[in-house]
Amino acid sequence: MARRVVGIGGTLRPRSSSEMLARAVLAECAALGAEAVMFDGIALSELPHFNPEAPTRNAAEQALVAAVRAADALVIASPGYHGGVSGLVKNAIDLLEDTRGDARVYFDGMPIGLIVSAAGWQAGGVTLAALRGIVHAMRGWPTPVGIAINSIEQKPFGADGTLIDAGIAAQVALQARQIMTFGVSEAA
Ligand SMILES: Cc1cc2nc3c(=O)[nH]c(=O)nc-3n(C[C@H](O)[C@H](O)[C@H](O)COP(=O)(O)O)c2cc1C
Repeated sequence: MARRVVGIGGTLRPRSSSEMLARAVLAECAALGAEAVMFDGIALSELPHFNPEAPTRNAAEQALVAAVRAADALVIASPGYHGGVSGLVKNAIDLLEDTRGDARVYFDGMPIGLIVSAAGWQAGGVTLAALRGIVHAMRGWPTPVGIAINSIEQKPFGADGTLIDAGIAAQVALQARQIMTFGVSEAA
């Protein structure tokens, strides 16, 4: 069965670079045989502020939790906002507390590609480290290749949305390969 990869992230900005990078990784995964689905900034903006005590979940919340439950791997992409993960993305991750009581707790055993876009290198580095910490806390396996771009110094996408930066394209392809081969033995 095809590996199911769910992307979560981006911002509400048109041409959000974090969203575009997540979509680029998902496209590479799809080229390697994955079924890929993206929850972008607009989708995440439909999630109410997470309330662990609330008895009901709206349709957007149900869709994200169901997709993650069915996923074999995730891609999480955040901008660096004030030196950390954006509220939009963190709110979505917090909702995944709903998977705590599942047979697969949180992200247990899942490979997770992480992406950060920030206007400076410092926020890129610390936000990527923060995402790794979050994924570890939720029992997931961040892929060795995390991607952090500096959106001031790097313009990876052309006007038509094509990924034109060869170095970043190589990181995207490698992260996708790591997502798709995680837990697959060479002999299999
Ligand atoms: C509210 C806010 C806070 C930000 N804080 C930082 C920051 O602390 N460090 C930094 O390098 N860039 C910061 N940025 C810039 C964004 O990280 C940068 O523009 C990023 O590329 C946006 O991602 P996007 O293209 O997916 O929207 C901030 C931007 C906003 C809107």
